[in-house]
Amino acid sequence: MTTNRVTQTPVPPKLACASACANIALIKYWGKSNAGKNRPAVPSLSLTLDALRTLTRVEFLSDLEMDEVTLDGVALDSGAGGRARTRVVNLLDRVRERAGIALHARVKSHNAFPTAAGLASSASGFAALALAASVAAGLEPSRADLSALARQSSASAARSLFGGYAVLEADAESAEALAEADHFPLSMLIALTRTGPKAVGSTEGMQHTARTSPFYPAWLEHAPILYREAKRAVLAKDFATLGACMEQSTLMMHSTMFAARPQLIYWAPASLRAIESVTALRKDGIPAYFTMDAGPHVKVLTLPEHAERVAQELERTEGVLSVLRSGPGHAARLIESAEFDDALGRAANEKTQTMGDR
Ligand code: DP6
Repeated sequence: MTTNRVTQTPVPPKLACASACANIALIKYWGKSNAGKNRPAVPSLSLTLDALRTLTRVEFLSDLEMDEVTLDGVALDSGAGGRARTRVVNLLDRVRERAGIALHARVKSHNAFPTAAGLASSASGFAALALAASVAAGLEPSRADLSALARQSSASAARSLFGGYAVLEADAESAEALAEADHFPLSMLIALTRTGPKAVGSTEGMQHTARTSPFYPAWLEHAPILYREAKRAVLAKDFATLGACMEQSTLMMHSTMFAARPQLIYWAPASLRAIESVTALRKDGIPAYFTMDAGPHVKVLTLPEHAERVAQELERTEGVLSVLRSGPGHAARLIESAEFDDALGRAANEKTQTMGDR
């Protein structure tokens, strides 16, 4: 954060809340560059989504002996949440170093979507955390600074600092805005095909693929070509070309994983069925294209006027558990404490009602 004014006096705000949306890569990042510090080996292009939002509150306090981190009301500690906690604390450490403060923080984060389903919660989570923690520590970072900070925790999070379409070049320090959502308004349907967290995390999966897949060099060579074509398609509002690039990017990335040793297969039987539903819709003249990340869910991009038809088709696909509907999401932004408290209160209420229904 070389360009920042580091505010040590007057006293920094100490508390800040932020909201960030997850993004789905239309052109995928898979693999780390040799430049280190979690920079991507290939360029990626994403759409930020309003249905997948994380709200985070960070408060630096003088009476804490260690950082306290809770996600959806559950404390992340040395148990199952230990790894996630370490990633959060590492980001806080980078912020403390830049701000020149030694205070511990109380972090509360709330995902307004099912975390356990393995959706892209790290992207919205680290984008919201980077913003809230930096401001609470008294820094005045630029959006690029925040994107770089988030990238070090999770490269896809770098793109969630931006609304609409964002790009992250290979080896880049931070992501950049490509186009506003209203330049080319699209809808995304997310077909959930399995519950429970994914078996192999993205970082580990990428390292394994790079080490063992004979297709990995081909992926590194072809991914930038697809990226350039897709970028032109977004700027030209050419949906058919964007959709074709998006599907090829997904299938190239997953083929690289299939060829790893041992193989890495994130797909569920219902993933393939959902893909078949999408190709059948296209045969019927409905413009819809699929993409998949490091998990079994199928995300379908379409024009807003066809979103409901596509959602219904996915809902009746065997093995699809539910379908989330999303439009483009906003850039990461600061919110008032009251907005954070309201969202948390609503979530707690919904939980009580669901439990009461059983
Ligand atoms: C398949 O950003 O989760 O979703 O940088 O190691 O935290 P780390 O990985 P992460 O990887 C995302 C991979 C992807 C494609 C994408 O979002 O570009």
